[in-house]
Amino acid sequence: MTTTSALPAHDVTDLGLAAEGIRRIEWAEREMPVLRLIRERFEREQPLAGIRIGACLHVTTETANLMLALAAGGAQISLAASNPLSTKDDVAAALVAEYGIPVFARRGEDRDTYYAHLNSVADTHPQMTMDDGCDLVSLLHSERAGQLDEVLAGTEETTTGVIRLRAMAADGALRFPVVAVNEALTKHLFDNRYGTGQSTVDGILRATNLLLAGRNVAIAGYGWVGRGIASRMHGMGAHVTVIEVDPVRALEALMDGFQVMTAADAAAWGDLFITATGNVNVFRREHFAAMKDNAVMANSGHFDAELDLRALREMAEGHVREVRENVQEFDLGGKRIHLVAEGRLVNLGAAEGHPAAVMDMSFANQALSAEYVAAHHAELENRVYVVPDAIDREVARLKLAAMGITLDAMTPEQAAYVASWQHGT
Ligand SMILES: NC(=O)c1ccc[n+]([C@@H]2O[C@H](COP(=O)([O-])OP(=O)(O)OC[C@H]3O[C@@H](n4cnc5c(N)ncnc54)[C@H](O)[C@@H]3O)[C@@H](O)[C@H]2O)c1
Repeated sequence: MTTTSALPAHDVTDLGLAAEGIRRIEWAEREMPVLRLIRERFEREQPLAGIRIGACLHVTTETANLMLALAAGGAQISLAASNPLSTKDDVAAALVAEYGIPVFARRGEDRDTYYAHLNSVADTHPQMTMDDGCDLVSLLHSERAGQLDEVLAGTEETTTGVIRLRAMAADGALRFPVVAVNEALTKHLFDNRYGTGQSTVDGILRATNLLLAGRNVAIAGYGWVGRGIASRMHGMGAHVTVIEVDPVRALEALMDGFQVMTAADAAAWGDLFITATGNVNVFRREHFAAMKDNAVMANSGHFDAELDLRALREMAEGHVREVRENVQEFDLGGKRIHLVAEGRLVNLGAAEGHPAAVMDMSFANQALSAEYVAAHHAELENRVYVVPDAIDREVARLKLAAMGITLDAMTPEQAAYVASWQHGT
């Protein structure tokens, strides 16, 4: 960690990258009109004045704009990465050198450095947490439990983090209230589906330059992320098969026009395999054994646990090499399997993550949820809360307005009609 008189505490790869980071943060800002409006209001109203926020988020251009909105609202922020491979080093440099925000994140950091960086954020004694995957909350509930009483509340960005938090709350282990930003409709319906859908294709194409048309693509998980990827892959001309464990979602996939298969059947069929389940070892030894030569695998779920990489490494017996940037080849003797972005979130590891226009809504929810918990933490219990409906609707309203779309309003007659029970056949 470095501290100089002019700069905040930080540990980033190269401050010399700041100029490029500034350009890219400003480019993203143009696509984030809702967050801009919130930042302008925060500047006037200071709803986060003096609150120390510890953030564990992907260090991207969009996150940088969220950090600037929170800082405009009066918060003292520090930021660590929520994944070792998702940090954009130029953005980290710009946040430190240009915007004075403490950042602890280096792309490709090892596990020890990742946790050292989370501890650097914990060292700032956050009163509010802003997590993507629950790692900061977990740290504060384990090694750093001594400072839990200082935390007023938190927010959580992603499905996997919300699942972990709900498990903690069910065990009675959660020690402060957390708002599940992922549960906002204006988050998961758009970010998980369209954001991850597009950026997953983007990551795979940047890494491999594969032609998708006519290719067999097997997608595990037909949740919000999986369906976004499936529809984008279909749009690019791929043949899509879905692998599911939930009967309703499998049925949805089928009626959306996709094939549904078991992982075992898909293994021999697929050319490209993508996981988006939030679960572990979805593709494993027996599936790798059945895959074709030149199969490609990528993961878009939160953790790199969706592919059994230990089994893959064992099967390759050391015959692993980098064949392109972000592509490893595992030679299983007689056939090769390719892994994109080390099995970490491919859209962030091999591309830039979600487009800013979609993060505009996710991070508007983050900023407004932070404002909400700053005002209401004393009334909240130590459990997981959904984003208040008023925030969700406000984000949708602002986004539509920014896109120049005007909605109809019900006539008084219609409003009375839908509110009444007397009308029948
Ligand atoms: N890459 C990104 O930028 C990004 C963005 C948002 C969410 N995520 C992550 O993506 C993952 C999925 O998120 P979501 O919002 O789609 O969740 P979701 O809960 O809506 O969907 C997950 C789906 O996976 C299915 N599933 C679980 N185990 C399975 C198995 N063994 N085989 C096949 N299917 C299985 C479930 O039945 C469910 O339908 C989470 O880890 C989430 O945190 C990543």
